[in-house]
Amino acid sequence: MNYNNLEEKDNDILEIINRETKRQQEELELIASENYMSLAVLETLASPLANKYSEGYSGKRYYGGNHIIDEIENLAISRAKELFSAEHVNVQSLSGSPANLAVYSAFLEPGDKVLALRLDHGGHLTHGHSVNFSGKLYDFVHYGLNDEGYVDMEEVERLAKEHKPKMIVTGFSAYSRDFNWQAFRKIADEIGAILFADISHIAGLVAAKVIENPIPICDVVSTTTHKTLRGPRGAIIMCKEEFAKAIDKAVFPGTQGGPHNNMTAAKAVAFKEALSEDFKEYSKQVVKNAQVLSKEFLALGYDVVSGGTDNHMFILDLTPKNMAGKEAEKALEYVGISVSRSTIPNDPRPPFNPSGLRLGTPAITTRGMKEDDMKQLADLMNEAIINFDNEDKLNSIKEEVKRIAQNFPLKY
Ligand SMILES: Cc1ncc(COP(=O)(O)O)c(C=O)c1O
Repeated sequence: MNYNNLEEKDNDILEIINRETKRQQEELELIASENYMSLAVLETLASPLANKYSEGYSGKRYYGGNHIIDEIENLAISRAKELFSAEHVNVQSLSGSPANLAVYSAFLEPGDKVLALRLDHGGHLTHGHSVNFSGKLYDFVHYGLNDEGYVDMEEVERLAKEHKPKMIVTGFSAYSRDFNWQAFRKIADEIGAILFADISHIAGLVAAKVIENPIPICDVVSTTTHKTLRGPRGAIIMCKEEFAKAIDKAVFPGTQGGPHNNMTAAKAVAFKEALSEDFKEYSKQVVKNAQVLSKEFLALGYDVVSGGTDNHMFILDLTPKNMAGKEAEKALEYVGISVSRSTIPNDPRPPFNPSGLRLGTPAITTRGMKEDDMKQLADLMNEAIINFDNEDKLNSIKEEVKRIAQNFPLKY
């Protein structure tokens, strides 16, 4: 990219940007929540739209001069509606966590009961963890995975009937199987609960119709716009028309001030990209790559939670290799492969050094990697993990990672 002005004004920051860009070029990204946005999305983020204050909504702003910004927001909304078959979309959420704060505050009072997936079985902090606003403000009860590594629907039903939560949360940060949205709908209807899906991880796969769309089934759905959707960092909230006012009020003035208009426009660009045939092909490849990669690790003697994946990620269980997540993450970081350590269900190890790694394929698939490349990658990662204390070996793997990365260049 061209940074002529920055070069003139601030070489300290430019030098750091250049080093991070080089790191991204030379290393391989297997963090399931990361991706590489297109140059078109990146250019939009850098536009002067960022200068404008626009508290309020299209046609009802608290600042003058917003008639052009209104066009941006309306376009983002109409594209998101088309992409997700949504009745109502709020495109102003600044990120996934504030989006979830807005969803809860639209439907719940502090102290209300909510049912969600536990963090150490794949849920997210904003799904009621005690250190997060969600766990502090609301009374969360958690369901988990069964012994096969799938969401335990019997437990969901039992807890729902026992606790009568006002809201049931579906969605995850670390889970590789399809959610049975209809089964959740049935349970929510039986107890009169609001059904909320946080599809932050799988939104791109939903948009590409690789995964069943929960939006027509759920009352309200939030998603980040980065991750599999490959847009700018940010979020949107989708809901049934009957909840539109409550959601909009909860976003502004409930939990946010002015929207970031450059980000809204970048979301619109990403939605247009996601409506394309190319994006559908890309999303299918993301899942194929994750499935092949998980099989390769099984063949190398590792375990995979639930035995495989239906989406873009899986949880690698390092127990058969007598390794812990932190050491494996460190060895992989050393050779230039980024991953995130993860708990496995009922992990005997502590959360800061759990038994697993969460691996995801959205970013390496954007770089153009296919099934054959997954075998090579699994072999290299295995070599790095089992040689975590052999610096010479790790250095030669690092060179190999750099060489592979150069074969799949980024366009920045
Ligand atoms: C399921 C889920 N919800 C919400 C979030 C929060 O998103 P953000 O980091 O943009 O606040 C994440 C991000 O990891 C997520 O995985």
